[in-house]
Amino acid sequence: MGFQFETVPLIVNENGAAGRLSELIKTRFSCKRVAIITDAGVVETGLVKSVVSALTKGGFNPIVFDGVEPDPSEQIVLEAASFAKANDADCIVGLGGGSSMDTAKMVAVLCCSLQPLHALYGIGKVEGKRLQLIQVPTTAGTGSEVTPIAILTREDHSKMGIVSPQLYADVAVLDPELTTKLPAEVTAATGIDAMVHAIEAYTSLHQKNPISDALAREALRQLWTHIRAAYMDGGDIPARSGMLLGAMMAGQAFANSPVAAVHALAYPIGGQFHVPHGLSNALILPHVLRFNLPEAKHHYAELAEVILPNISGSVDEKAAGFIRALENLCFELGIPDHLAQVGIEANDLPKLAKAAMDQTRLLVNNPRRVSYDDALSIYREAL
Ligand SMILES: NC(=O)c1ccc[n+]([C@@H]2O[C@H](COP(=O)([O-])OP(=O)(O)OC[C@H]3O[C@@H](n4cnc5c(N)ncnc54)[C@H](O)[C@@H]3O)[C@@H](O)[C@H]2O)c1
Ligand SMILES: [Fe+2]
Repeated sequence: MGFQFETVPLIVNENGAAGRLSELIKTRFSCKRVAIITDAGVVETGLVKSVVSALTKGGFNPIVFDGVEPDPSEQIVLEAASFAKANDADCIVGLGGGSSMDTAKMVAVLCCSLQPLHALYGIGKVEGKRLQLIQVPTTAGTGSEVTPIAILTREDHSKMGIVSPQLYADVAVLDPELTTKLPAEVTAATGIDAMVHAIEAYTSLHQKNPISDALAREALRQLWTHIRAAYMDGGDIPARSGMLLGAMMAGQAFANSPVAAVHALAYPIGGQFHVPHGLSNALILPHVLRFNLPEAKHHYAELAEVILPNISGSVDEKAAGFIRALENLCFELGIPDHLAQVGIEANDLPKLAKAAMDQTRLLVNNPRRVSYDDALSIYREAL
């Protein structure tokens, strides 16, 4: 089967790399005005201050937009873009989790574009160029630093994706030191998000390909190996580095072999109940995997061998073992396992199921077709 594989042109993986951004910018681009796009939580860690001071020492005079909020709204994206435009920014640095990096992508696009934001949703709708874009993740989860995707929350609380090649960054910088202050519960939830990216890329219906497969397997191995240590001791640099690498590789995998029903059913939970993205995924994960078993058990059995090298038995036993291992991991990491624990009630489920059915971009990738009734019964099991 023919396939295409695309990723960012340069990935820098080095402890302390964020302190050397100015060298990186000077050797790759001819920029004058750097705009950092970030959020208040990242500012609080002191990370923004140290990146600003390193850039200033390097001869830049960076400006900072720190108004990003989790699950960024269109409003925030437009504000950030106006700020960058008004200050003549010519290089955008996304410094933060997926929310800041997704906002940075759209700022880089909107500063050069006459298209209205609402016209950009879907696949391949962005026209023309963008500003130079460097992504510096401070969570190990979304892989947004290497994906051509930005997820925005619209006024009706739906979470929708903008997917276009222009959204691939010029440079992704993986610096484990930036993630050492990440709270344990964010480490856990974002780490599970990255694992879901690897799993869904591996079972994606139409664009599964050998490069994404290899990346998904290695991503899962790295994440499985390091997540407990990173959760227990935020300052464990080798574990933090493994998590960043795993999340990035999972991002490369699903950028080319897209995610599916776990994400489709998780987005309405995030959009309507403001549950963090990784947690929404974790709540729904085992139930979607069980639903998918008739079509995907061979793939799940293969992934079981990646995380549990000594597993034996039939394909059915290995696939079941894989799902159980993920459930046990979530339990070890203290992640809630019922929708009721995040304030969702039985009478909310039809609305969630209806919203999930609108995620057609994702549902088409699921190994098993999901109807409205299926979505509803998956939510019921997760309740
Ligand atoms: N573009 C993509 O390919 C893609 C993929 C998956 C998810 N997403 C989107 O990304 C968003 C979620 O991103 P996320 O899970 O990385 O979380 P996030 O960016 O929303 O950040 C979560 C919280 O963690 C804090 N934080 C971030 N880094 C920190 C650090 N180093 N130390 C302390 N606190 C820190 C932030 O301030 C914030 O309060 C959602 O909107 C989701 O839909 C995008
Ligand atoms: Fe995700």
